[in-house]
Amino acid sequence: MIHRWLEQRRDGVEQPPEEIAAFVAAATARELTDAQIGAWLAFVTVRGMTARETVALTLAMRDSGRVLDWEGIEGPRWDKHSTGGVGDKVSLVLAPLWAALGIRVPMISGRSLGITGGTLDKLESIPGFRTDLEAPRLRAILSEVGCFIVGQSADLAPADRLLYALRDETQTVPSVPLITASILSKKLAEGVEKLVLDVKYGSGAFMKDLAGARVLASSLEAVGGGAGLDVTAMLTPMDEPLGRAVGNALEVAEAEAALRGGGPDDLVDLVVRLSGHGDRARAALRDGSAWERWCAMVLAQGGDPAAPRLGQDALQCEELLADRDGVVARCDAGETGRAAFALGAGRARAGESVHPGVGLVLRRKVGEAVRRGEPLAAVYHAGRGRDEAFARMRSAFVVTDA
Ligand code: URA
Repeated sequence: MIHRWLEQRRDGVEQPPEEIAAFVAAATARELTDAQIGAWLAFVTVRGMTARETVALTLAMRDSGRVLDWEGIEGPRWDKHSTGGVGDKVSLVLAPLWAALGIRVPMISGRSLGITGGTLDKLESIPGFRTDLEAPRLRAILSEVGCFIVGQSADLAPADRLLYALRDETQTVPSVPLITASILSKKLAEGVEKLVLDVKYGSGAFMKDLAGARVLASSLEAVGGGAGLDVTAMLTPMDEPLGRAVGNALEVAEAEAALRGGGPDDLVDLVVRLSGHGDRARAALRDGSAWERWCAMVLAQGGDPAAPRLGQDALQCEELLADRDGVVARCDAGETGRAAFALGAGRARAGESVHPGVGLVLRRKVGEAVRRGEPLAAVYHAGRGRDEAFARMRSAFVVTDA
C-alpha cells in the first residue's frame, strides 16, 4: 500500500479520504519507516494537498488518539490558538475572560520553542502551577471554574507528535496543509465547538508576510469548516512585541494587570477583539469578574496566585538607554525575541528548561517619544546572555526625528 500512497503523492494524484486515514493509522502504529513517512511529508510539502485531502488528514490525526468528551457540562466550548509571537500572553487573559462571560474554555497549550513564547512555560513561573492534570480533574475544573490551561497529554492526537517530529527533521514544517492539519487535529481532539485563531505575521512571527498569513488563515477556516469546527481566523501584526513584557514571569504579571482592568492598550485591544464580545469583554476586565476566574483557575491547577514568582532570586535589572532624542520608529519583535532567548527565557530544543524570571520590559513602544539617556527597555538577567541581549535590543530599536 505504502508504495501506491507514495506514488500518488509524488505524482500529485488526489488521494481518497480512506487512504489518507489508512496512511495516518499505519504511521501511528509504526508500520511504516521514517523514510517512507518523511517522503510522504516531503511530497505534500512540494505538491500540496486539496482541501478535501487536508480535511481527511485532520480527521485522521484527531482520531489517532483520544477525543475529549465534555458531555454533561453546559455552555458553549471555545478555544483560541495563536500561531505564536513575541510577548503574546493573550491566552492567559482570554481564557478566564471567556469563563467570566459563561464560555467554557478547555485550553490545551504549548511550550516555548525558539523565539516564540509558550503559555505553559509562562504559567509554570507561578509556584505550584500544574499543567499535567488527569481527565477527571480537568472535567471538575471546567465545570466549576469554566476554564483550564494544560499541556497536551500523550494520548491526544499522537499522530501529530510523530509527524511533527519527522517534519522537524525533514524541513517540512512550513507546509500550509501540514500546519493546518496539525493545529486543527489537536483542537478537534479537545472537544471544542468554536476556535478563534490569531494568525500572526511580521518579523516576530512564523509567517513573515501578510500574504503567507492570509493563505494559512483561509486554509484553517476552510478545513476547520470541513471538519465540523467553527473557525474564525484573524490576521494580526507581529512587527513589535505585544504589550511591554517579554519573558515568562514578566508576561504573567502583565497579563494579570490586564485581568485587573489595566495593562497595555495593544494587549487589551487584541484580547477584546479575539473575544468577540466587545464592550461586555471590556466590562468583565474592569469589574473584577475575569480576575476572579483567573485566581480560581490558578488555585484549581495547584498554583498560589499571590505567591512571588519563580526565578526572581539573583536577577539583575539593567536599563538600555536611548543614545539620542526622538520618536521610536521600530522595536523589532524578532530581535526582542532573540534577546529574551539569549537571556534563557526560551529553548532551542523540546525538553530543555527555561528560566522563569528573565526577560525584558519595553519602556518605550513604537510612536513614543524618548530623550537621550532615558530608558528604552529594562533587561532582567541572571548573567547569561546579558551582552547579547543588550546588543540585540540596541539593534531592535530605531529612534528617528519624526
Ligand atoms: N503549530 C502547530 O501546532 N503545528 C504546526 O505544524 C505549526 C504550528
